[in-house]
Amino acid sequence: MENSKEEKGAIVELIKNGPARITGDFTIVGYESVKTEAYLCRCGGTKNAPFCDGSHLSQPAK
Ligand code: FES
Repeated sequence: MENSKEEKGAIVELIKNGPARITGDFTIVGYESVKTEAYLCRCGGTKNAPFCDGSHLSQPAK
């Protein structure tokens, strides 16, 4: 895949003991309505998969 200078792509930030924050230009297959920012669950505790619902806050820190 070739990137032009105008394409910034996605930035993934792994939040300690929390979700992965994705910003920028991306597509989550099956969730195309999500446009420029998403928080994806990394703890497995969400009831709104694949998105973080804050359930990680009630889990012990790792
Ligand atoms: S990371 Fe937030 S609910 Fe899993």
